[in-house]
Amino acid sequence: MLHDPNRVYIFDTTLRDGEQVPGCQLTPPEKIEIARELEALGVDIIEAGFPVSSPGDFQSVVEISKAVTQPTICALTRANKGDIDAAAESLKYAKHPRIHTGIGASDTHIKLKFNSTREEILQRGVDAVKYAKKFVEDVEFYAEDAGRADIVFLAQMVEAVIAAGATVVNIPDTNGYCTPDQYGSKICFLKENVKNIDKAIISAHCHNDLGLATANSIAGVQNGARQIEGTINGIGERAGNTSIEEVVMILKTHQSLGLHTNINATKFYEISRMVSSQMRMPVQPNKAIVGANAFAHSSGIHQDGFLKNRENYEIIRPEDVGFPSASIVLTARSGRHALKFHLERLGYQLSKDELADVYHNFLTLADKKLDINDDDLQSLMANKLVKQ
Ligand code: KIV
Ligand code: ZN
Repeated sequence: MLHDPNRVYIFDTTLRDGEQVPGCQLTPPEKIEIARELEALGVDIIEAGFPVSSPGDFQSVVEISKAVTQPTICALTRANKGDIDAAAESLKYAKHPRIHTGIGASDTHIKLKFNSTREEILQRGVDAVKYAKKFVEDVEFYAEDAGRADIVFLAQMVEAVIAAGATVVNIPDTNGYCTPDQYGSKICFLKENVKNIDKAIISAHCHNDLGLATANSIAGVQNGARQIEGTINGIGERAGNTSIEEVVMILKTHQSLGLHTNINATKFYEISRMVSSQMRMPVQPNKAIVGANAFAHSSGIHQDGFLKNRENYEIIRPEDVGFPSASIVLTARSGRHALKFHLERLGYQLSKDELADVYHNFLTLADKKLDINDDDLQSLMANKLVKQ
């Protein structure tokens, strides 16, 4: 397979890892709606579900495979024949099917989850890949808890599954344990020590338990990974997964990294709101890229600088991610420039002294009221006109 060496593939698992969040379960029609939106966003792979887990999940993979044709459709399995049979069956309508199989790679998982040995686990991984290959050409292998796995064993495992036919090797930091330096070093070690590593794409799948999922994914691609797995709004198990909107905008903002994706970033705001409302999972206001305050300027110093030239306080234009617009929020921390800006927007032209007068009244009001809206400004102006 020939790949553009600088292209980073985006693997969306909102409908699988994201949907594992308690209370976020979706019906098959809701999943199809999100899958269509993910296709419009330009993701390369949609992980549509874990088919053996329930008839609903199985059916969702079938329906998404029929409804969405551009991206690869992926189904998750454990390393056993029953799971792989179900995945293969659910993918039968997919234009580009992928089976995502794997097993624990850390000694913790090998001993405490599987009560097994490294040798046995490695063999199970290899057998799963070989079995999945009977159904589809594109097989991704995940080495669960790779973040805590012994690096030499991890390299052996990765080498063995590539020899068995894996086209993508996923290195999950399942527990969000690594620092960016540690995660990046793992990928670098695999790149340098695994025979035939270039026959497969290395994938970064990071969880956010220490708030490092995005940073770790970027460290992954800086060290040779070429697929990032994540979710819209960063939803997912516990503290969530890598946030797709964040990694994509980091690669766009830092062009010096020399990496690019196929994502149409102007769709981010819309899909963020869709996922949030369908999954009943509010987006935190200060969430990077898509939070309500991501482009809101509220302190006097920032507002003044922004009004002089947006570039002072804007590294991404809101329209680049489909955000309605930047906003200058009026609070007790706002300065005169911000107040003047809003009053002019409402049609009031004030002299310096008049502005000083209204600003004084504005601060008195803003100390009592959390944010000041257009109605408040109109009342302030009406009050001033009455007094004159
Ligand atoms: O976090 C993880 O290890 C996973 C795998 C199942 C890919 O989600
Ligand atoms: Zn995960």
